[in-house]
Amino acid sequence: MNTRETLKINAKGHLEIGGMDAVDIVAKFGTPLYVFDEAHIRNMMRVYKRTIDVEYGGNGLVLYASKAFSCTAVYAIAGQENIGVDVVSGGELYTALKAGFPAEKIYMHGNNKLARELEFALDNGVGNIVVDSYTEADLLDSIAESKGVKQNVLIRINPGVEAHTHEFIQTARTDSKFGFSTSDGSAEKMAAHVLAKKNLILRGYHCHIGSQIFEKQSFVLAAEKVTAFIAEIKGKLGFEADELNIGGGFGVWYNDEDPKLQPEDYAGYLKALIAAVKAKCEEYGLKRPFLLIEPGRSIVGEAGVTLYTVGAIKEIAGVRKYIAVDGGMFDNPRYALYQSKYTILLANRANEKCTEKVSVAGKCCESGDLIAVDAPLPEARCGDILAVLTTGAYNYSMASNYNRNFVPAAVLVNEGKAEYIIKPQTYEDLTRNDVMPERFNK
Ligand code: LLP
Repeated sequence: MNTRETLKINAKGHLEIGGMDAVDIVAKFGTPLYVFDEAHIRNMMRVYKRTIDVEYGGNGLVLYASKAFSCTAVYAIAGQENIGVDVVSGGELYTALKAGFPAEKIYMHGNNKLARELEFALDNGVGNIVVDSYTEADLLDSIAESKGVKQNVLIRINPGVEAHTHEFIQTARTDSKFGFSTSDGSAEKMAAHVLAKKNLILRGYHCHIGSQIFEKQSFVLAAEKVTAFIAEIKGKLGFEADELNIGGGFGVWYNDEDPKLQPEDYAGYLKALIAAVKAKCEEYGLKRPFLLIEPGRSIVGEAGVTLYTVGAIKEIAGVRKYIAVDGGMFDNPRYALYQSKYTILLANRANEKCTEKVSVAGKCCESGDLIAVDAPLPEARCGDILAVLTTGAYNYSMASNYNRNFVPAAVLVNEGKAEYIIKPQTYEDLTRNDVMPERFNK
């Protein structure tokens, strides 16, 4: 099983999520369904917050990277836990505001924020915007001027740390669409550019080295490099940063090739990173900056389980056995995109031994529509409930209506009770924005 205490197998041999039997969840809500364990989400937010409080005197803020899973309820949870959030689009920002999330604790990212997104952010008093291009700096300055606002900003810098993860989710190596390199003078030039803007208040820097990273050393190295950059700019431009945002990226358990990290291990990452910032500040004679981190996956990833119903089963003798489920790449595109390996089990027969290897196919009209390949499972029958673990991050948020399938609903389970946080879609939802040209009626 995974790293959580809230995921168990009960006396009936059923998977239990957040104290509720998965079979009962399915009886009430149907499949496919995203199930989120509230306790796990809150625990992870608290672990990070407590570590900043204890190790850094509370001089910082945890931002939940809401791209991992965005809906009003999750912003409400972050608000209740007294942390901030990061958003990367007008849509995420709108959702956070709709949930009543305090705008001053929202940080806005993105390598190509649109004018209307920046205007929306300024109109709503978003605390901090992470500027990622000259175009954006100029645009934001003029929008701020027109609104009579002085906007706090960070600059996205790229410390060139190569993190060991899937190529597509590395973001801070030199060849990246994100950020200004600290090693070739471009970050320095950008700092000078922003400092010269009348309506932008440069607060500091942001970096994010990638996602699904387990190497503590990568985070420490990034922290050291960005702190060194603060010192360099202080020396060259006389500007000493007040804020440092080290990004997110802490890995989670998907399958037995991944370590099973406990909350204290995540605290350990943060402690190591904080120790590096403190040591470098001392070495360079800097004040300690307000410190931000932006974990997404590690807060919601293992909190999520997707439940499906097994339908068609196809065995190709000597080749492979496929079991098809009522979901697919439209609710979880991560195998299609990254060949991500998941742990699967039969939620209604969770105690039974795995006797075969199966590939889980979705119902889309596409051969690459797979959720898992050659994964161990007991012999599945039509009607069984298939659980795919660790689907809380980047599943719902990357879901689509491909083939006009419904994006599944999501429920939040807390102390044995489940309730909707995202309602099921309807056929009417799917056609709501379709328009029939008038002339077709002639
Ligand atoms: N901050 C920034 C600026 C980011 O770009 C990201 C993730 C995070 C924070 C949160 O990183 P996390 O703690 O979740 O690793 N769709 C991919 C993941 C893309 C991550 C993008 N940025 C996946 O399904 O694995």
